[in-house]
Amino acid sequence: MTRRIACLGGDGIGPEVLAQAIRVLDALPVDVELVELPFGGAAIDESGEPLPDETLRACRQADAVLLGAVGGPRWDGGAVRPEEGLIGLRKALDVYANLRPARQGAVDLLIVRELVGGLYYGRRGVLDDGTVFDTCEYHPAQIERVVRRAFELARGRSGTLVSVDKANVLDTSRLWRAVVESLAPEYPGVRVRHALVDSFAMELVTGAEEIDVVVTENTFGDILSDVAAAVTGGLGLAASASLGDDGPGIFEPVHGSAPDLAGRGLANPAAMLRSLALLLDHALERRDLATSLGAAVDAALESHPTADAGGGATTAAFGDAVLMMLDDQLTRQEDAWKTPA
Ligand code: NAD
Ligand code: IPM
Ligand code: MN
Repeated sequence: MTRRIACLGGDGIGPEVLAQAIRVLDALPVDVELVELPFGGAAIDESGEPLPDETLRACRQADAVLLGAVGGPRWDGGAVRPEEGLIGLRKALDVYANLRPARQGAVDLLIVRELVGGLYYGRRGVLDDGTVFDTCEYHPAQIERVVRRAFELARGRSGTLVSVDKANVLDTSRLWRAVVESLAPEYPGVRVRHALVDSFAMELVTGAEEIDVVVTENTFGDILSDVAAAVTGGLGLAASASLGDDGPGIFEPVHGSAPDLAGRGLANPAAMLRSLALLLDHALERRDLATSLGAAVDAALESHPTADAGGGATTAAFGDAVLMMLDDQLTRQEDAWKTPA
């Protein structure tokens, strides 16, 4: 059965790293149809909308969304921002659990970020006196579903979970903590602890090896996932999967459109390719190919690192290296099948 993947390049380095993912998809033994669609600033330029109806419709009908990045100084001060397209798409697909793994050396952690609530989606406005406000709002059910997902993920890993909040100050965080406490008895195999976000940011920097699964609200998760990326090789390597209960997930790097690198062949496509590996695993149920791709990316990081990873390979040269190693691996697997035992 042909699976459909909506490909949204977006802006800056988004289309550059997506191009490498498409090359890899074309080379993999999967039956997929790729549909490329306008999104972000590029879509604003075409139609005035960062998430055109046609793009949203195609995403809803797809089995997965593979997304580059949006935004850039070009669209600052406009009536609508590219980022609104991303925030709108996440909400429309209700992908509430954003999985952001960070792995390097002794560090192997997973941040589960609530993605469709909190400060990004609360009431906002301007008062007569010029005060501007954004509101952090959470309904208990919104917290429960993402916390359950995190407990389940923790159960399948080391059985430890850190819930990060600011319960010493914020009512939404006290609600968050109460929901975590109420669910904990249902997951007796998981040891859960609470941490305050400020000191936890320090823990991530000084002791990431000790951390396994982390669950937190939208804004804290945004910031902490960049910190986790920084301690595991940088934003060029950090992937993510955004999942709901059903319907297509969104697979995208943690990084943005990197306007400082755009158009220069300097972007590291590893984060995008690792996001594609997450797509192969979660959306196409091909963990075997996800593992092969992950290994090929790791090998390319050794043999053909881009500038951010301490080397001199271009975006395309990194893609070439991944394709070569994948080809080797897939051929060896095929040979193994053909060789009689
Ligand atoms: P950024 O993630 O784009 O870049 C931060 C730093 O990391 C830059 O120095 C950049 O060069 C580097 N970097 C990022 N990706 C890299 C890669 N693949 N290879 C090598 N180096 C990489 O963050 P920013 O500069 O704060 O934001 C730029 C724009 O991106 C903003 O408009 C922001 O809103 C947007 N943004 C979008 C997304 C998204 O689409 N998911 C995520 C974050 C930021
Ligand atoms: C991310 C980005 C987005 C976020 C922005 C671009 C809306 O920073 O995916 O981490 O804050 O979620
Ligand atoms: Mn971010």
